[in-house]
Amino acid sequence: MIRFTVNGEVHELDVEPRRTLADALRDECGLTGTHLACEHGVCGACTVLVDGAPVSACTYLAVEADGREVATVEGLADGDRLDPLQEAFIEHGAVQCGFCTSGMLMAAKALLAEDPAPTAERVARYLRGNICRCTGYRKVIEAIVACGRT
Ligand code: FES
Ligand code: FES
Repeated sequence: MIRFTVNGEVHELDVEPRRTLADALRDECGLTGTHLACEHGVCGACTVLVDGAPVSACTYLAVEADGREVATVEGLADGDRLDPLQEAFIEHGAVQCGFCTSGMLMAAKALLAEDPAPTAERVARYLRGNICRCTGYRKVIEAIVACGRT
C-alpha cells in the first residue's frame, strides 16, 4: 500500500513493487495526461513533478512516490482558467500534435520555479530531456521565456 498526493488530492493505492508511477497515475488515478512514448526515460513525454522535481514517470516506481507530492499536467489549470504557461504555449503556437506537451509543461514548470525568468539558452538546456518531433523547439522555448517575463 502506498499513499501520496496527486495535485493536492490524497491517493491510497495497492501496487506491485514493479509498477511505474506513470502506469499508476494513468490506470489507478485515471490521470491520462501523463503520456507514455519511449518508456525508457529518454523522451520526457511522461515528465511529472515529485516534491517539485521533474522525474520520468515511466522509470520512477510508484512505491518511490510513497509519502510524496506528485504534480501532473491535470493540476495546472484552475477549473477553466489555464495556467499562464499553458496560455503561453497556446499564444506562441508551441503545441502541434500535443503528445510531448504535458511533459514539456511540467518540466517548464519546474524550471520557472527554480529560475522565474530563464534565458532561451537556459530553457533549451533544461529541456534537453524532452523530445518533440513537431515544433522544432523554437516556439516552445519562446513560450517559456515569454511566460517567465510576465
Ligand atoms: S515515456 Fe518516459 S521518458 Fe519517454
Ligand atoms: S507537439 Fe508533437 S511531439 Fe511535440
